[in-house]
This record gives sequence, structure tokens and C-alpha cells, in this order.
Amino acid sequence: MMKCRKCGEKAAVNMRQHKLALCKQHYLEWVPEQAERFIKKYRMFTPEERILVAVSGGKDSLSLWDILIRLGYQADGLYISLGIDEGLGYSRQSQALCETFAARHGLKLHVVDVAREYGYTIPALAEKSRRGQGKPCAVCGLTKRHEMNRIARDWGYDVLATGHNLDDEAAVLFGNTLAWAGDYLRRQGPVLPAGPGLARKVKPLCRFYEREMAAYAFLRGIEYIYDECPFAQGATSLYYKAILNRMENERPGLKLTFYLNFLEARQAGLFGPASGAADEELHPCPGCGQPTSAPGLCSFCRLVQK
Ligand code: AMP
Ligand code: FES
Ligand code: ZN
Ligand code: ZN
Repeated sequence: MMKCRKCGEKAAVNMRQHKLALCKQHYLEWVPEQAERFIKKYRMFTPEERILVAVSGGKDSLSLWDILIRLGYQADGLYISLGIDEGLGYSRQSQALCETFAARHGLKLHVVDVAREYGYTIPALAEKSRRGQGKPCAVCGLTKRHEMNRIARDWGYDVLATGHNLDDEAAVLFGNTLAWAGDYLRRQGPVLPAGPGLARKVKPLCRFYEREMAAYAFLRGIEYIYDECPFAQGATSLYYKAILNRMENERPGLKLTFYLNFLEARQAGLFGPASGAADEELHPCPGCGQPTSAPGLCSFCRLVQK
């Protein structure tokens, strides 16, 4: 029987990558302690700042919200309804789970319904745009970024937090490395500093394995949506995740080392100054006021005006 390193009771979670096994109680203490360490190490935010947590209804973002509240931070939620409801009602279900979580903990949740706001669901927007032929994921990503920035700005939040975990970050890093996408590599990190009209963006879970977050959500009794977005099937990021998992299986800790060594190389300037600032000159979009490098309207405003 695997024993908890702290108390010797039966372990609930064994993390080969950290050579650490913990019982339920000690695991549920360990996770927020680690999160607090990362928040301070990367200077993500302070208890005085107002945080907007983007919640999708999945295990990562709901666990993140839970952890921030347990640590005493001021964090409101934002759910963006994408209107992906054919078949299983993916968006409706995930919204209900976010609302249940907020209600249970007495927290404020902003809900933005893309169809109500702009007249089209994400699949419909993708349908009428060139970007979205086949899959709506690009249009969806653009819309989510735009709406997160808009709500953070309009409601005066200091910082926007997302639930990206180590598996997400390592997969993106893997893709960017294969492409030697220097500009993306330079800007990929736990913190993207604020810019004119843009809140700071942070990823407090970037050093937690997906498995660790699943265990946290389960042991905390957080109800979340198990299904992936129906359009995620066949996505390149899932392919990279599967490859990284195969390597991780044979070499526990590989994913974390890959990511942490990258952060060090980036800090040392391997990809250029690691400020996280964009290269191009930005100006406010005449439609929505958000900074853009495009001449005239930003790509989101062009998308919804078409
Ligand atoms: P994904 O791009 O689906 O892997 O999600 C990455 C992060 O973006 C999640 O952890 C959330 O913080 C945020 N997010 C994704 N979908 C939504 C949504 N519909 N509403 C609000 N935040 C979201
Ligand atoms: Fe956006 Fe799947 S297309 S979540
Ligand atoms: Zn214990
Ligand atoms: Zn715009």
C-alpha cells in the first residue's frame, strides 16, 4: 500500500513525477500551497487585486476558482456561452455547472451569451467566415479572447486568470517548438503583462499536471463537465498531448522539465527580450476599442460585421 508522505495513512494520489504520494486531506492542502507558491514566484497578482477567472465548466477552471477562493483571493467568474448545443447540449451543460458552483460558494459569475450579444452562435459565426471552414475552433478562440478582454476592461478587473494546466502548456510549447515560432515562444509564459486596454493574463495552474487537477476536482467534490468540446476531436493539440503522455509514461517528470527548462531559456533571452509585449504597433480598434495590429477594425469586429 502506498502511504502518504506527511501522515503515513493510505495515499489517495501518487505523483510519480514528484516522487510524492499523499492522502486525501494532505493532497487537498498541497494543491493550494503549490498554487500559492507559483502565484508569488511569477508575481501573478496580490490579494488586493480583483481577479476575473474564465470558467468553462471543466475541471481545470472550476478547480482554479475553488483554489483562489480558498487562498483568500477576490475572484469573480466569467462564463462565455458559445452556443455549441447540437446533440449533447455542451454549452448549456457547462453553463449550468458554472452556475451551480458559483451559487454553492456565493460567488459572482458573469455570463456572456455570444448569440445574444452578436446575433450568431460560434458554429454559425464560423459557418459564415472563411477562417472557420470545417472547424469553428479558430473563430471560437478569437471570440473567447475578445470577450474575456472586454469583460475584464468594462468591469475594471486587474487580471484575467485561465485554467490552462501543464499538459495544455506543454502541448502548445511542443507545437511552437516544432514550428520554431519564435514570436509565440517569446510570449508563452505564466504571465502576459497588461497592455493599453488589456488586463494582465495569468495561468496559475501552468505547473500542475492535468491528472493532478482531475484528482483535485474529484477529491473536492467539484461537479464539472467530462466531455471535451465536440469540435476538439482530431485537434493537433490532442495529438501532441498524446505523444507527450507516452514520453511521460516512460520518463515521469519529462513534461514538467520540458516546460520549466523552456521558461528558463526564455527568461535568459533565448527567444529575444522576454517582456511578453507584442512586436507590432497596436492601436485601438474603431469598433470595440481593443488594441489591434490590423489596419482598421480588429479581426473580431470584422468577423461579426460580415
Ligand atoms: P481551452 O481552450 O478549452 O483548453 O480552455 C482554456 C481555458 O480557457 C479554460 O481553462 C478556461 O479558463 C478558459 N475557457 C475556455 N472556455 C471558456 C468559456 N466558454 N467561458 C469562459 N472561459 C473559458
Ligand atoms: Fe471552441 Fe470547441 S470550438 S470550445
Ligand atoms: Zn496524509
Ligand atoms: Zn474590434
